[in-house]
Amino acid sequence: MSTRSELVIQDLVKAVREVLWRHDVTFEEYRAAVGFLMKYTKGPEFEVPLTCDMLFNATISDIEMKHRKGSISNLEGPYFLEAVPEIADRIKTRGEQGDELIIEGRVTDLAGNAVEGAQLYIWHSDSQGFYSGFREDLPTDLYRGRKVIGPTGAFHVRTTMPAPYTIPHDGPSGELLGFLGRHPWRPAHVHFKVRAAGFVEHTTQAYFAGGQWVDSDCVEGVRPALVHEPEERGGAKVLKINFVLDPA
Ligand SMILES: [Fe+2]
Repeated sequence: MSTRSELVIQDLVKAVREVLWRHDVTFEEYRAAVGFLMKYTKGPEFEVPLTCDMLFNATISDIEMKHRKGSISNLEGPYFLEAVPEIADRIKTRGEQGDELIIEGRVTDLAGNAVEGAQLYIWHSDSQGFYSGFREDLPTDLYRGRKVIGPTGAFHVRTTMPAPYTIPHDGPSGELLGFLGRHPWRPAHVHFKVRAAGFVEHTTQAYFAGGQWVDSDCVEGVRPALVHEPEERGGAKVLKINFVLDPA
């Protein structure tokens, strides 16, 4: 009896062989492909996870939803950090850099009951598309925070609008995007992760209707249900979003 990894890898090899047959791939083309893969051994380590996430992370998130009834999960991406400040109702930003964004909603179970004590992590880029903790000039207390959900399940957090950004594209991952006829841009988005005892960890993103690149996200992460049309309130944009958690 085969293990699960044996089954998956055997099918993967079979699928690649079928593609080679379909396109009459020559030995020279095969050697060129091996040469391309060798570039991953010479560049920065992040190129391998970057390419895998670029091609397959959104698919894994969709597969997860086959077994869930709660809110739609989506890519985590490479910029999540565990150690972030606990926030009350405001994420620290360099507020002068972007439009104000209010994020509000509830964290509930499938029946709509508040999940008190849930930990809601929010992180997003600054107005230039950069993440704190990944640049010298952006300490980790900016543009990210952890909100502890109270007895009503409701949250209301002020921050600033994120911006589109490119994934690193000067290495093999970028070359691969070129082969796929794709650009390296991600649309502006906010990341969320919700953790609560007794529930499946929920990781997702929110995108903005009409935003640049929302129709051609380079990592193909956008799903219609994750695209929001923010309301205007007192000069701020309001993103209304609920997180419905699946039981563990
Ligand atoms: Fe991101």
